[in-house]
Amino acid sequence: MKKLIAGNWKMNLSREEVNQLAYDLMTNISPEPGPRVEWLVCPPFLYLDRMTKFFADSPVAVGAQDCSAHDNGAHTGDISARMIAEMGARYVILGHSERRHGHGEVDETVNRKARRAHEAGLIPIICVGETESERAQGREKEIVGRQIMDSLPSSANSANTVIAYEPVWAIGTGKNATPEDAGAMHAFIREALAARIKDAAHMRILYGGSMNADNAGALLATAHVDGGLIGGASLKAESFLAIGRSLKEADG
Ligand code: 13P
Repeated sequence: MKKLIAGNWKMNLSREEVNQLAYDLMTNISPEPGPRVEWLVCPPFLYLDRMTKFFADSPVAVGAQDCSAHDNGAHTGDISARMIAEMGARYVILGHSERRHGHGEVDETVNRKARRAHEAGLIPIICVGETESERAQGREKEIVGRQIMDSLPSSANSANTVIAYEPVWAIGTGKNATPEDAGAMHAFIREALAARIKDAAHMRILYGGSMNADNAGALLATAHVDGGLIGGASLKAESFLAIGRSLKEADG
């Protein structure tokens, strides 16, 4: 399976900076779909329309960073999965730890949002991951296992859903999980998925948390690590594209 290299731009970049980053990506990325890598960028909502138009007919897919748990109607401030799909986006990040911890999202909310995403034909990237203190207590598998069980809707299969393992302690800290730790958690997630869905072997499981060009080669060469969800290093074309290049080197 091709590795998915996904940039989560979070709430960063001015309009000018978004234009520059998109231009830099487009001019430095091979116009042909690569044999090993698929690219994805997830800008803030306000730039979604422009980015889907800009990257149309390019090897770069576009996704959103969240969607509403509701379909449509009186939900001030919400953006529906259908609206996102109508903009030409293909993916939506759901249950990111910054939503779980900063906005009180629980597994049930993530599950409802993922169902909306499926109804709209979007591929949800469902994020899971333990905090530093949960890991210190040896509870990382219990936490992540529960998140997998409760956040995935029954409509999930390997073609319409992606998982991202993002240990909270690794996000934006410069402290990435080692390939061994990431590999152990990804193997565990694969097993947990097998209890929920038929074709778990083919579901993509991304790693996220301080991934950069220096550590990506080893992480992406680890069994069950099917790509990366990248924050800080996705904000510059050079550091983002270098992650894809490190994969080629790791693959030989
Ligand atoms: P960093 O790559 O900045 O650690 O962020 C990871 C992340 O949260 C991606 O969703």
